[in-house]
Amino acid sequence: MTSSVAVLRDVAALRAAVRGWREKGERVALVPTMGALHAGHASLVTEGLKRADRVVASIFVNPTQFAPTEDFSKYPRTFDADLAKLAAAGASACFAPGVEDMYPKGFCTAVGLEGPAKADLEDRFRPTHFAGVATVVAKLLNQAGADCAIFGEKDYQQLKVVAQMARDLDIATEIVGAPTVREADGLAMSSRNVYLSPDERTKAVAIFGALSTAAGRIAAGEVLGHVMADAREEIVAAGFAIDYIEARHAETLDRVARRADGPIRVLAAAKLGATRLIDNVAVPHD
Ligand code: PAJ
Repeated sequence: MTSSVAVLRDVAALRAAVRGWREKGERVALVPTMGALHAGHASLVTEGLKRADRVVASIFVNPTQFAPTEDFSKYPRTFDADLAKLAAAGASACFAPGVEDMYPKGFCTAVGLEGPAKADLEDRFRPTHFAGVATVVAKLLNQAGADCAIFGEKDYQQLKVVAQMARDLDIATEIVGAPTVREADGLAMSSRNVYLSPDERTKAVAIFGALSTAAGRIAAGEVLGHVMADAREEIVAAGFAIDYIEARHAETLDRVARRADGPIRVLAAAKLGATRLIDNVAVPHD
């Protein structure tokens, strides 16, 4: 039997719960999400439980990280199913604030970013996205005061932006990255996969296929430029419109010209019909 998850609706309730656990000497992990939970999110809870006694997951569809043209209003919202998944994964609480709690009238502060947030990857196509992410994550980290917070490598640039932000602002919570959970065919799990038609869903695995092949070939010492050109062709042939497909330094996200410039991560974003998918794969290194 899985125990139930406490729903915390405001910051006072979150802080009281965390204080109660701390008084018992328990460690606390935070898992920030926007809901529409799947096994990828559940894996972050599992990772949190390896590092802490209590996991609190937040569910907040953060309006400031969506551009006006993006899917904020139609982003999938499945709160009751989310709570059941959090309970099954072993989370103790779900922090689910309202927009008015996170951004009360008069709110006017945002986190300014350079470095990995200006890598010319996601930021080229979503120029206001990471300011919204970093601001809400800074708030969540301050609100929870957890020992650690778990983020997925699925959103690799986001993970680097958050880690840099926490370091630069002296936020005491340790930022931990966790591996991408995939469907049986290799497609990275994503809340946005529900937008894919059956035909698109079949084609969608091409992005992971091309990135994996590219990572293997770079590791084998093939010329990086040729490998990435082939990967691009492979994704286009599957019917995607590519935003970017690039090999970058795995830590700084700087451009790399050859394997020796690494460790390398290959990253891509591409649209299949109206749905934009992102994924990334590590290039194995000695
Ligand atoms: P969301 O897209 O809900 O993702 C929440 C967390 O789950 C992120 O850390 C993301 O990288 C991770 N995740 C998503 N799919 C995953 C997968 N297949 N395997 C492993 N982890 C996966 O990312 C956000 O929300 C927001 O930007 C947020 C950080 C909550 C700020 O609003």
